[in-house]
Amino acid sequence: MRSFSLVVVLTLCACPKKEEAPLAQPPPPAPVDDCTFETKLVPGVPGSPGHLIASERNPNGASELATHMRMMVDDVRDAKSKVLAGQPVPTLFAKHRKIRCTWPTAASDRNEAFDAMAQNYLAQVKALDAKPADMKAAYSDVVRACRTCHEATCDGPIAVIDGLALDAK
Ligand code: HEC
Repeated sequence: MRSFSLVVVLTLCACPKKEEAPLAQPPPPAPVDDCTFETKLVPGVPGSPGHLIASERNPNGASELATHMRMMVDDVRDAKSKVLAGQPVPTLFAKHRKIRCTWPTAASDRNEAFDAMAQNYLAQVKALDAKPADMKAAYSDVVRACRTCHEATCDGPIAVIDGLALDAK
């Protein structure tokens, strides 16, 4: 009995050494969202306070956020014509996400309420980017999110926003 178990042990020990399993690769770190409410804005960049961007529209110059808004208006206007024509709409989230980390004219406007509405806007943009069956409804939700923030922050551009509605001329 005793010698039998010794044989078993020896046999086990004689097994060729298994190839060392390669060390499991650590999972890639979750991508860090580099544009959130916590993101520190860099003083002195174009469009920051004291460094406004020359603008035909605004003799005082435009903030980084105002310039970003103009780009958003152009993109959404382009999306409108494509939605109406049933053409593919370019995705917008990657471009528009910076709404959360750009300098407004008044730095204090970048507050938690603003950020919550910016996140809501970006959620609607993502939903449109996902190309749902009802593109018109998804598009209208994007424009509604523009309006929601503007009703709460600055209502000057409301006419521009209403002009982006699908049924506006
Ligand atoms: C989360 C809030 C928020 C959302 C969402 C938002 N805006 Fe704005 N928008 C602002 C604020 C705040 C300003 C003022 C920026 C400044 O003065 O720096 C502004 C400025 C503008 C301006 C004036 C830019 C200029 O040249 O002065 C236009 C036009 C505009 N937004 C249109 C839009 C449209 C269209 C959308 C949706 C596609 C949109 N906004 C979504 C907050 C928002």
